[in-house]
Amino acid sequence: MSEVTQIIKGMDQLNSLPDAMRVAIFGTNGGIGEAVMERLSAHPKVKTVESFSRRHPDPTRRFDFRDEASLAHIGEALAQQDPLHLVIVATGMLHDQDQQIHPEKSLKQLTHEGMSTAFLVNTIGPALIGKYTLPLLAKNSKTVFAAISARVGSISDNQLGGWHSYRAAKAALNMMIKGFALEMKRNNPDSVIIGLHPGTTDTGLSAPFQSSLRHTLFPPNVAAGHLLGVIDGVEPYHSGSVIAWDGQIIPA
Ligand SMILES: NC(=O)c1ccc[n+]([C@@H]2O[C@H](COP(=O)([O-])OP(=O)(O)OC[C@H]3O[C@@H](n4cnc5c(N)ncnc54)[C@H](OP(=O)(O)O)[C@@H]3O)[C@@H](O)[C@H]2O)c1
Repeated sequence: MSEVTQIIKGMDQLNSLPDAMRVAIFGTNGGIGEAVMERLSAHPKVKTVESFSRRHPDPTRRFDFRDEASLAHIGEALAQQDPLHLVIVATGMLHDQDQQIHPEKSLKQLTHEGMSTAFLVNTIGPALIGKYTLPLLAKNSKTVFAAISARVGSISDNQLGGWHSYRAAKAALNMMIKGFALEMKRNNPDSVIIGLHPGTTDTGLSAPFQSSLRHTLFPPNVAAGHLLGVIDGVEPYHSGSVIAWDGQIIPA
């Protein structure tokens, strides 16, 4: 499968998507989610941006991954309006100071709470968002459902070990994406369902790990531009893939 070349040309013009797009973004209080929302809200191709997060100022736009009904209600509200062209899931969790959850350096550090929270936020939540939004994608035009995953979810690329729960939860998310892509292809062949790797980005999620970085740390606005470039460049044959910020396909 070929890489996505649009990003290499530095494009996030969304020319491949229809005019007057309707977009839904989940996790808009996070670093990358907020930056994506800001870029899309100012984008001339975009008519509406529907934003959702667990601490949204508007209570009707809040969801709780432990409460499936909160996502079902959002789906019902979106279904009353015109179809969506782009859904971006920008939620995710690597550590949670309040719950004392940290990425494991060793299997001795695995805990039930840490594993179940990692899977709740990185796999189950995004999959349920897919359940309630994939049927709302427009037919007869290119549409994209993109869930932000991570390169460390690649099983074949895991050379370092550690971060067991986060890696496993992202790998499981990637399998969900593959399964959804196969299922959607049957009745919506122009839909593209992908995972995205943003590269290491300066957000709360990466903050505790930035001092040991040996590669570029992207500002959220730059990362958002990269991801929109990939979204612009993908085609239906990419559906089911996980794609990095620079257009490279990440192996499973
Ligand atoms: N930053 C990086 O270097 C990097 C690298 C690779 C992949 N990623 C991925 O990029 C995505 C965005 O991360 P980010 O860097 O923007 O991190 P972030 O600033 O910490 O944002 C994470 C988002 O997930 C939401 N979230 C966390 N736990 C939740 C829960 N239980 N229920 C509902 N929402 C929850 C957060 O909401 P609250 O604010 O309410 O917690 C926030 O909107 C994630 O999927 C992450 O795994 C990031």
